[in-house]
Amino acid sequence: MSGGYGDIPWDDIYAAGEHRDNWDRAEPAPELIELIEARGWPHGARALDLGCGTGSDARYLADNGFAVTGVDISERAIREAVERTSADSSIEWVRADACDLPLDDASQDLVVDGACLHHFTREQWDDYAREVARVLVPRGVLFVRGVSVKHRSDNVLRREWIERVFGSGDFRVESMRDFTLIGAGDREAPGLRAILVRT
Ligand SMILES: C[S@@+](CC[C@H](N)C(=O)[O-])C[C@H]1O[C@@H](n2cnc3c(N)ncnc32)[C@H](O)[C@@H]1O
Repeated sequence: MSGGYGDIPWDDIYAAGEHRDNWDRAEPAPELIELIEARGWPHGARALDLGCGTGSDARYLADNGFAVTGVDISERAIREAVERTSADSSIEWVRADACDLPLDDASQDLVVDGACLHHFTREQWDDYAREVARVLVPRGVLFVRGVSVKHRSDNVLRREWIERVFGSGDFRVESMRDFTLIGAGDREAPGLRAILVRT
């Protein structure tokens, strides 16, 4: 497995510090805070941050009582996440592909994805959905957010793909809505967010 996926060289991007100019933020995503505050999970619920980057969302989840695993395909992202996290944190950081997770079946109550799935091709969406369905418990939640306009790659979070991939079978679409995604330096982009529930 290389540090890239498709044609995006994630390790090189992190090495060049491009994440700091584009998406990386010290604070957790406002829409994630909104979800956690609105919904409420029991203390100790298990959460997986897919494409965790340098880990702001994963740290927020851990600070709010979740047992957290942060997964990213980039070794450099994981290294930076570890550096930014206090040594006594229980977060488990794992370098892995979101479509091939070294996690047990039905081991997660919540999976969050901030701008990872939106880089995938349509074929990769099927692999991703299969793998997330495998690790989620029944009625577990997948919360995906990403840009809905073309950016780094040709792929974006598309309503049609969410409906097609998550609208039947292993998932149901609980909600899907447009929002403004905040990136590095408070840069804004049109985004789409969806709550998908494991059936
Ligand atoms: C735009 S960044 C977002 C990072 C983080 N979620 C955030 O909001 O700051 C996308 C992340 O997805 C990771 N990624 C891309 N493809 C992946 C894959 N197949 N499996 C796991 N992580 C992947 C990248 O390395 C990168 O850290």
